[in-house]
Amino acid sequence: MGFVDYSAEGQIGIITINRPKALNALNADVLEDLKAVLEGVDQEAVRCLIITGAGEKSFVAGADIAQMSTLTKAEGEAFGKKGNDIFRALEVFPIPVIAAVNGFALGGGCELAMSCDFRICSDNAMFGQPEVGLGITPGFGGTQRLARLIGPGMAKQLIYSARNIKADEALRIGLVNAVYPQAELMDQAKKIASGIAKNAPIAVRACKKAINEGLEVCMDEAIVIEEKLFGSCFETADQKEGMGAFLEKRKDKNFINR
Ligand code: CAA
Repeated sequence: MGFVDYSAEGQIGIITINRPKALNALNADVLEDLKAVLEGVDQEAVRCLIITGAGEKSFVAGADIAQMSTLTKAEGEAFGKKGNDIFRALEVFPIPVIAAVNGFALGGGCELAMSCDFRICSDNAMFGQPEVGLGITPGFGGTQRLARLIGPGMAKQLIYSARNIKADEALRIGLVNAVYPQAELMDQAKKIASGIAKNAPIAVRACKKAINEGLEVCMDEAIVIEEKLFGSCFETADQKEGMGAFLEKRKDKNFINR
């Protein structure tokens, strides 16, 4: 694929945004390639995805400013929709997705990371929504996801001031779960992904759905979403295997995603 690489290592799929000359900035082609890669992921075999950026400097330095610079109002809205549709597909993708942020995650890059289930980063990572300094709003979900992730007050301050923050501050405000030396980032991401992959995929996927969908409704409705997903796990091969292994005092488990 042109600007987005995909490789599978056992049950882990690795998506790499690969446009290093522009610090992996997202133009329309990169977005299309990301969409195609996502659509091609083998959801039977793969149990966790990792998204990262090519090179050691940047995860994604935002949407492509050169390409955006001449857009009309209607084209700007359509570009926002294009990014939003793809990032939303990523957010609700049935398989968990970890963002391994290896450098700049600015604008659309921060928004890409926020569309993943959670983020870890390298010590040289930098996050921010610099859009107001370019005369635009964040356009791929930044106003919505940043406010939900770190709270509206902190999100408003960061977005209004267009201030970029380093890894340690991102950790402090809960935007990332952990910071690692750059050389260790991918190994750590794979370790976390392997830990997820060894659990029952139907249960992990149901948890993702329950958390995502439950956060969008009131608690009375949210617990019903959980009840239904909890119920859906019963009578499955993986529920029988997981509970059977416990009752038989067996350490090895063979989950088959059924
Ligand atoms: N769009 C297009 N090209 C970009 C880019 C972007 N977002 N970010 C970097 N590049 C390009 C640069 O133009 C440069 O290309 P040339 O070599 O052809 O000149 C190349 O990548 C390397 O960048 P720099 O020379 O600027 O590298 P640096 O180390 O000096 O600075 C940086 C790095 C601080 C990340 C700087 O490149 C920068 O500020 N980039 C823009 C960040 C930004 O504002 N992102 C938000 C975009 S708007 C958005 O994303 C809207 C949305 O919500 C959808």
